[in-house]
Amino acid sequence: GSFLQDVAGSRRMLFGAAVSAAHLRDAALCEAILRETGSLTAELEMKWSHVERHEGQFEFQDADAVANFAHAHQKRLHGHALLWHRSIPDWAMKAGRLQDDWDSIERFVAAMARRYSGVESWDVINEPIGPAEQPDGLRQSAFLHAFGPDYIRRALVSARRHAPRAVLCINEYGIEYNTPEHERKRRGLVQLLAELRRDGIPLDCVGVQAHLDLSQHHHFDPAVFARFLDELGAMGLQVRISELDVKEKDSDGSVAERDRAVAEATRSFLSVALQNRAVGSITCWGLSDRYSWLDVPAGNRGLPFDTDMRRKPMHSAILDAL
Ligand code: XIL
Repeated sequence: GSFLQDVAGSRRMLFGAAVSAAHLRDAALCEAILRETGSLTAELEMKWSHVERHEGQFEFQDADAVANFAHAHQKRLHGHALLWHRSIPDWAMKAGRLQDDWDSIERFVAAMARRYSGVESWDVINEPIGPAEQPDGLRQSAFLHAFGPDYIRRALVSARRHAPRAVLCINEYGIEYNTPEHERKRRGLVQLLAELRRDGIPLDCVGVQAHLDLSQHHHFDPAVFARFLDELGAMGLQVRISELDVKEKDSDGSVAERDRAVAEATRSFLSVALQNRAVGSITCWGLSDRYSWLDVPAGNRGLPFDTDMRRKPMHSAILDAL
């Protein structure tokens, strides 16, 4: 059968997967990764809380494991993620600690850019848009509280300074469906991006995480999502599908039925996403159900390979969409 990256490559697209250093000890997983992907993303190893658990002491060994694997096998490496509200180290979360101290962020960004100079693209800001109604749509994070909305610009400028050749991305979730919440986040994101473009802030790319969800997928509206991608493309931004997987509603039904539903959601989503020329890559958040971050009672089946490392209908759905 065909491999995802080969088919993607023939369409000038890239197929990638998130991997974890621990999972790279699994030979069967590695074999599938080597065959199927062209790009890797560290699932946790490059996050601030992972790299700088103690202030000023960088621990790179896990991130190195992912980076070295990618390098050894000629896979591209996507850097994930410099600023994420859920990966701030405990010491930096202490009350008032980040206040007026951009230096600690600058030092982290500089350290990552320098050590992982082979990273082709960075998620500079992960999930900046708030889940609930905010005046400017921005998430009420420790970054926002310490630095105000300018933290986004400052981070992008820092990233460009330290990683001048890297593609700089803002990555966001909850923007795929035609619900009021997703629509509000789309509007918040588009407004943020428009302001950054207007002011000439360094930014090249938007990641659409695409954690699809079978309990919401009936809200997927091709026209609405296509229009959103058009808006991003019209701003001159690249678009990436950055964390694709499918959360099941429950684990009722036969395996065949479950896999069909997951594949169908993937197919309907990707057939719209890949029609847009701005969309250049698909990354799945994992490759096999053996290591999915998604949790449903009987194990989630939302990735292209099953726990026995066999291809599932979702694999074909991605191939067909390419
Ligand atoms: C998740 C990892 O998959 C988990 O293993 C970890 O415990 C928490 O982070 N959006 C993101 C990713 O941008 O960084 C998250 O990854 C999943 C949601």
